[in-house]
Amino acid sequence: MAPVAASEGAAVVAATDISWLLWLWALLLVVWDTLSQKGKARHLPKRIPLPQLPRFTCIVTGATSGIGLEVAREFAQSGAHVILAVRNPSNGKKLIQQWTEAQDKTGGPEIKAEVMELDLVKLTSVRTFAKDWEARKLPLHALINNAGVFAMNVKQTFSEDGFEQHLQVNHLGHALLSLLLLPSLLRGGPSRIVNVNSAMHQLGFVDPEDMNITKRKYSSVAAYSGSKLAQQLFSRMLQMRIPKEAGIDVILVHPGEVMTAVTRTLPKIIQEAEKISACVRFTPAQAARSVIFCATDKQVFAYARALREMGCPVSPYFSSNSNAAIAKSRIRIEALSKRRMEGGLVQTLGSPVEVEEEGVLVPVSDTAQVMLVEVGTCEG
Ligand SMILES: NC(=O)c1ccc[n+]([C@@H]2O[C@H](COP(=O)([O-])OP(=O)(O)OC[C@H]3O[C@@H](n4cnc5c(N)ncnc54)[C@H](OP(=O)(O)O)[C@@H]3O)[C@@H](O)[C@H]2O)c1
Repeated sequence: MAPVAASEGAAVVAATDISWLLWLWALLLVVWDTLSQKGKARHLPKRIPLPQLPRFTCIVTGATSGIGLEVAREFAQSGAHVILAVRNPSNGKKLIQQWTEAQDKTGGPEIKAEVMELDLVKLTSVRTFAKDWEARKLPLHALINNAGVFAMNVKQTFSEDGFEQHLQVNHLGHALLSLLLLPSLLRGGPSRIVNVNSAMHQLGFVDPEDMNITKRKYSSVAAYSGSKLAQQLFSRMLQMRIPKEAGIDVILVHPGEVMTAVTRTLPKIIQEAEKISACVRFTPAQAARSVIFCATDKQVFAYARALREMGCPVSPYFSSNSNAAIAKSRIRIEALSKRRMEGGLVQTLGSPVEVEEEGVLVPVSDTAQVMLVEVGTCEG
């Protein structure tokens, strides 16, 4: 793992959207990332070899397909206690049955997976999930926020909570879940929140005054990339507010460009045409490697600690080849401040009182607040 220094100075631009030139540049970076990802990841084994993990507990959101399924299966097969946090519990139960039958044949450790219902598009579902989980008072070693939507070719839709669906599923739902599960992550410390992000955050724009994209032109690309950029900003903020003594780190990972069902809303003909790109895209199992690495490898803790000790106000961000990198996103946010982002979150989600009572969160200093705006100033 080679920690990489921040590669760009921050640009806090008072703008209403990302400029087309910057957008084009970001797009080229995403395309290059896709074309080069297999070459860059050639040092990785086919699977991240996990030891037996009988005392490891993790929650994986969106574990019924794609990358999440592979991550949950790897953990389950290593004997970890895995909670499949899914919107369709019967699909989750079928998977556990299959894994158990397979494990019975191969003779690996007992499968200790279970299903809990979680629909991120409903904040009530997130709260119910967290309440039920926290009632068990178990330690949690990794929360893997993997579920995601990219509703291409679909008109803009809003949740019953009033949020644009990409914003809610990819960012807000997971943000609330992370906050509500801090007590059990504290019990499991050292522990991690792993946010499955995307290189497409580079195309994103976050306007705290227009999180739902109603004042500017909507597109699914803008909504998806904006939600991933918002997740990055939130992750940084959370990482700064959790004291190092808590032993909880917030990690971001780009799993690569992957052949999954994420393009399910595209017309069938385009989905078929997309298969041509299989030669450059990862399989879900290949993509799971960087996520598992972020959830388990000691180097990730060490890197997070090193960043904290340098006073660097970022969440560790790992690319699809499991190398550390600083997200290249310029912060295209008008008058970004910790207070505004956090104020917005607390307003929209309601104050996570239970978390404050546990005393897990601490206020960030003014210096850290300024540094949040100046992402890119850390030399590693
Ligand atoms: N594929 C890529 O190229 C790529 C690239 C960069 C980042 N990512 C990120 O990787 C993550 C996994 O995506 P994937 O490619 O594996 O896609 P996927 O196969 O479509 O899996 C997405 C998972 O999210 C679940 N999900 C969707 N909406 C949900 C909701 N409201 N509540 C709970 N779960 C919900 C889905 O549940 P169902 O099974 O019930 O549909 C599914 O299990 C996402 O965060 C995505 O943004 C993917």
